[in-house]
Amino acid sequence: MAAAEDPVDDAGGPINMWVADPYFRTDERIIEAFNYAVANGCTHYFPAPGFDGHVLQKAIARYYLEDLAVEVDPLGEVCPTHGAQEALSLAVQAGTRPGDEIVVPEPTYSAFIEKLETFGVRPVFVPLAEEEHWRLDVDAVKSAMSEKTKMIYICNPNNPTGTTCSRGELDAVSELLKEHERVSLLLDECYARILYDGSTHHTLLGDRGLLDRLYVVDSFSKTYAMTGWRLGYLVTGKRNADRVKRLSEEYNGGVSYAVQYAGAAALARCSESVRSMVAELDRRRLAMVDALAEVKDVSFETPSAGFEVFVDVSAYSMDSVRLASELEKIAGVKTMPGVKYGPSGEGHLRLVFCAEDVRRVREGVSRIDGYLQGNRG
Ligand SMILES: Cc1ncc(COP(=O)(O)O)c(C=O)c1O
Repeated sequence: MAAAEDPVDDAGGPINMWVADPYFRTDERIIEAFNYAVANGCTHYFPAPGFDGHVLQKAIARYYLEDLAVEVDPLGEVCPTHGAQEALSLAVQAGTRPGDEIVVPEPTYSAFIEKLETFGVRPVFVPLAEEEHWRLDVDAVKSAMSEKTKMIYICNPNNPTGTTCSRGELDAVSELLKEHERVSLLLDECYARILYDGSTHHTLLGDRGLLDRLYVVDSFSKTYAMTGWRLGYLVTGKRNADRVKRLSEEYNGGVSYAVQYAGAAALARCSESVRSMVAELDRRRLAMVDALAEVKDVSFETPSAGFEVFVDVSAYSMDSVRLASELEKIAGVKTMPGVKYGPSGEGHLRLVFCAEDVRRVREGVSRIDGYLQGNRG
């Protein structure tokens, strides 16, 4: 995937450090696969004769087997969805009822927190500690559980902190679930393949005993620069998968077949372009952390995954919503207020490094620095 033209007008537009979209051009082979399916009649409810209706589910199962040595049943356990957003909503709907509680270690993915209100489910936040490098605290998760807990949500790798769960942490979660048989686990793995510094992605998907209470969500948006195609999926035990597919069918009648066909091409043919995109993202990540290291009185963990750095700006006494708004108006840099990612995110900004090239990433941090130094409390 070649980097697309700089999406922001250099002449005056703000520097984009807020949207977690890599803006790389989707690989030509993915576009060709989509065009091929459309040109050959896949423009109806069902795929055209000669096309395999389960091509995407089979490609996803092959990916798990080859990359993570995990076996899943493509037809029974894999559900294609309209992006990970739909997959997360379906998992919440399938696994909870209004009035239930979901334990949510935070800071975590903001749109997940926001959607819980829609479903009448109460988030019980478990604050993660910056001093502990934002690591998952399984004992704290356990302490937050009550009679009403029906689900635990874990974003791994975590947006916005860029932390990845260790094998040991996930095993501890698995043990916890064995003690609480009515609780399910929602694992959001959308950044599973955007890894740096040799870090490894671990999952609980291989734990067949857990599969009936496990919902694993992933997306093509980040890995294949396909945010606008709206393609994701959910893997779960067969009984839940049937329910999820029925819900999805009721809402939207299923994902466009040509898009599914394109997704299968992405999995089968684009590993090399994912590697080169991640190499470029790594250069942007390092440019951002190097530049931030020069800024007075801010601190951060270097992310080992994802598109963003979560920066502690609490020394500059301004709430994160106001700071982000001032930075946009006065310094010309769009950022995300940390409080969007949960109560522990206050005092932070989420800075995305995926959307701009190295030069603009440095320029963005320099503008933030200029603003902060000029507005010390
Ligand atoms: C952790 C996480 N989960 C899910 C999503 C939603 O992805 P999609 O574009 O597939 O709906 C995002 C997008 O930002 C994300 O960061």
